[in-house]
Amino acid sequence: MRYWRAEIGRLLIDYFEQDNRRIEHAFRVLHHADRLMVDYPGCDEEIVIAAALLHDIGIKLSETELGYQDGATQEEYGPAVAGELLAAIEFPAEKTEIVKNIIGNHHSPSRYDYPELELLKAADLIVNRDEKV
Ligand SMILES: [Fe+2]
Repeated sequence: MRYWRAEIGRLLIDYFEQDNRRIEHAFRVLHHADRLMVDYPGCDEEIVIAAALLHDIGIKLSETELGYQDGATQEEYGPAVAGELLAAIEFPAEKTEIVKNIIGNHHSPSRYDYPELELLKAADLIVNRDEKV
């Protein structure tokens, strides 16, 4: 059995290094995604975990390459980074494709009918609302 929360959480922490705000944001989103999963029938738990922890992973490369980041550039840069990180731990390839699609669509109108995408958007919304206070 694999401990995906721990393994992907470790990838996230290693990748974001000292950027604790982003690391904590991802764990908060995972917490709410775990909690709300019961309301989104048909979700694959492994996809939910990977998408929640890595949904904003494109921020760092966007900032390095462009000097800024926003929803659109997160969607642009995130999928490839997530794909590389997940390949390194042999996360199931067919699930990685879905995780990448979710990351590439989490700030724009849904182009996929994945329940995991709607769940991630709901969890991210809750956390973003909390963090604005
Ligand atoms: Fe987020």
